[in-house]
Amino acid sequence: MSTTSRGPGRARQEKIYREGVFGRVPAVPTDFATLEARAQKASTPTGWAYVAGGAGEGRTMRNNRAAFDRWAIVPRMAHGNTTRDLSLDLLGSHLPAPVLLAPVGAGALMAEDSDLKIARGAAANGVPYVFSNQGCNPMEDCAAEMGDTPRWVQLYWSTDEGLVDSMIQRAEALGAGALVVTLDTTLLGWRPMDLNIGSLPFSRGQGIAQYTSDPRFMEIVRERVAAAAGAAKESTEVTLGAIRTLLSMTRNHPGSFGANLRSPEPRAAVETFLDIYSNPGLSWDHLATLRERTKLPVVLKGILHPDDATRAFDSGVDAIIVSNHGGRQVDNAIASLDALIAVREAVGDEPTVLLDSGIRTGADVFTALAHGADAVLLGRPYMYGLALAGERGVTEVVANVIAELDLTMALSGAADLASITRDRLVENPSVR
Ligand code: FNR
Repeated sequence: MSTTSRGPGRARQEKIYREGVFGRVPAVPTDFATLEARAQKASTPTGWAYVAGGAGEGRTMRNNRAAFDRWAIVPRMAHGNTTRDLSLDLLGSHLPAPVLLAPVGAGALMAEDSDLKIARGAAANGVPYVFSNQGCNPMEDCAAEMGDTPRWVQLYWSTDEGLVDSMIQRAEALGAGALVVTLDTTLLGWRPMDLNIGSLPFSRGQGIAQYTSDPRFMEIVRERVAAAAGAAKESTEVTLGAIRTLLSMTRNHPGSFGANLRSPEPRAAVETFLDIYSNPGLSWDHLATLRERTKLPVVLKGILHPDDATRAFDSGVDAIIVSNHGGRQVDNAIASLDALIAVREAVGDEPTVLLDSGIRTGADVFTALAHGADAVLLGRPYMYGLALAGERGVTEVVANVIAELDLTMALSGAADLASITRDRLVENPSVR
């Protein structure tokens, strides 16, 4: 992609304009505001609340965007470069562009077989997809869609250590390029958009496919079912909502619908998931065990404080992702771009530092790289592409961001990623 003389930016523009001659337009809008508005129209209220919603008053999401607005790119002229190289080496893989797809759970709220479509969209662009631990398709099935394109696996630290090991073994077996441990979701944040409609996808069995496909998890579920068989039955109020929830759990559980309907397993799986998926007591002592538990590169996601970044690298991890989980955990938390600046300052140039939360455009990627990110992760934008046009929507959103990054580099005089340095930015004089 990066080695063609036209580069991905011109190639994408030319494709769109050529199609336009025949009256055809792109599958998804090429600007984020229209993409978001159209995705909202295409989504159910529960789907939209979960994907677009944030913690509390939504201030962290706004902080994420405001932080990008506070910096301006100062393009340089007459640089004479006709080609750009967007490629990089990241944890042992050569990537065509500094973009990965972030782990996003419960994607089936936006489209059926969400994670398979996302996997294909990532592979179409040759960029890694980080499989969510709360995905809607088993990670092995997603890997099978990706050919040689790198795939990483994200893990929430369960209270069951056997389950942690089982997930790690599965990541190794499918050839993951890295194990990403997310630190910021030991509990769910206070999310009013979901709370106001009483909606949690997991309680309907959506987003637990990594668990119901896991041998250790299903062992725990069966133990619980056996233990409950002897105990007095809990009576459940039968409402329309309860019936819908039961049907959703039944549909989302592996196996035939008919057999699931008669089995206590689907409900037990949901309850077990809610009980054990995450460990609120997660500490550096847990993380210290990772080095003996896997040979995969280890990446810690959700770092915001420079001291946590330093501690992470001291503990031997291979990379960190500076992230506030897209503003979904703590309201009025520091913008991830602001955190990146302090983190890079603390850890120096060498360690691998990625960024997510608030990346919407190619110009944002440029700004993040100029502040010292090695690469970025896209989250909601590709989910909105998925909502509008499935696999093609994901493919186009990612291609558009990479295209705009390439054009921003071309028009600013940056021939490669190493030349996207801090001195290409100024504090935006137009924003006070
Ligand atoms: C997420 N994110 C997330 N992170 C993670 O490590 N595991 C997960 O399962 C999820 N699930 C999830 C669901 C939804 C609907 C969203 C929007 C996000 C966080 C994700 O990886 C990333 O940090 C954010 O999406 C980045 O913020 P923006 O750029 O999407 O606003």
